[in-house]
Amino acid sequence: MRGFSFLMPNEIQLHDKTFVPYIGADQLESAIEKTAAQLSEHYKDKQPLFVVVLNGAFMFAAELLKRCNIKAEVVFVRVASYSGTQSSGDVREILGLTSPIEHRDVILIEDIIDTGHTIAKLFETLLPKNPKSIKVASLLFKKLAYEKAYPIDYYALEIENKFVVGYGLDYNELGRNIPSIYVLKS
Ligand code: IMP
Ligand code: MG
Repeated sequence: MRGFSFLMPNEIQLHDKTFVPYIGADQLESAIEKTAAQLSEHYKDKQPLFVVVLNGAFMFAAELLKRCNIKAEVVFVRVASYSGTQSSGDVREILGLTSPIEHRDVILIEDIIDTGHTIAKLFETLLPKNPKSIKVASLLFKKLAYEKAYPIDYYALEIENKFVVGYGLDYNELGRNIPSIYVLKS
């Protein structure tokens, strides 16, 4: 949201940690706009099913989907793999997938791809349900931390292997409502 950025503090304290500005709202929005344009082009003759991975992807999903001018369905699911600032890799079950995905073009909307354990678990759970295709659209991609082979076809921004909060991303549930991205102060 233009107009928010000048109000943003130089430091934000969440629990025991301090975060500093990393990616501004304007930069996020123009990156999201490009991703939305790509999706709108690639899926213009399809009717994809967007599967939004909660909680982290809620803000990105809203900003992305309102810019995708295609006919599409949207559903919301939950998984969990993170506690604190280290990816645990311990992904639990996927909850809330109410729509059948057989023969559908599925697009998984994620907040961030880190090690890739979460997205791999999603692929492994969804592929046996026989979708026509599964692609990933993530706000952020920590390419250097990624350990999996599933392609990350759409992402708004690549970032360093650092812990970030804001725009849906949390540190132990705080920080999701920050309208830009902050990084752990070193
Ligand atoms: P992965 O399974 O290691 O790829 O981690 C993916 C999930 O961990 C994301 O959906 C986020 O919920 C969380 N995560 C990964 N990196 C960060 C971060 O830098 N900040 C906050 N959450 C993160
Ligand atoms: Mg998440």
